[in-house]
Amino acid sequence: MNMPSIDPVAFKASTREQWDRSAPGWNAHAPQIRAWLAAATDAMLGMAGVRRGSRVLDVAAGAGDQTLDIAEHVGPEGQVLATDLSPAILALAQQNAERAGFANVRTRVADGESLGVAPSSFDAAVCRLGLMFFPDPLAGLREMQRALRPGGGVCTLVFSRLMSASTSSFER
Ligand SMILES: C[S@@+](CC[C@H](N)C(=O)[O-])C[C@H]1O[C@@H](n2cnc3c(N)ncnc32)[C@H](O)[C@@H]1O
Repeated sequence: MNMPSIDPVAFKASTREQWDRSAPGWNAHAPQIRAWLAAATDAMLGMAGVRRGSRVLDVAAGAGDQTLDIAEHVGPEGQVLATDLSPAILALAQQNAERAGFANVRTRVADGESLGVAPSSFDAAVCRLGLMFFPDPLAGLREMQRALRPGGGVCTLVFSRLMSASTSSFER
């Protein structure tokens, strides 16, 4: 049976619009999401090799819950670039980072399949609960790989079953 093809441009426009609308609700549930994903987030950061001083790319960062964990892990000598397709949810990530006192977080509105960052400019890349929304997830993984220095680590966390999540990682 042939799978129906989707128009990636229309799909992303609709995704952006949905997440712009859902941004306040997702942000309002940050404490519950944080508790639910705490262990998986910790595993994700460990598998990607996030450590003090790392330059980390956070793809589909949403309202930046995992961004705060990354900022804490890398410390003031490290950097986090939080990216997302939705300007509204990413504005909340910026606000949340500022409110938490992290000066090492920057944000950029960007499609995860085409980030526009310099090649080999990050030590680690993560994507928490984002990749399954990409029309072409492999393009998203390739884009993270392109952004990493040789030897850098990637870990993505996606849904695998109802209300559970799994991680996968590789080193460039
Ligand atoms: C379930 S939220 C996860 C947010 C955050 N990473 C977290 O775990 O709290 C999914 C996010 O993926 C983003 N997203 C969906 N498609 C995207 C794409 N093509 N490029 C970048 N971000 C995308 C949405 O805007 C949304 O913020």
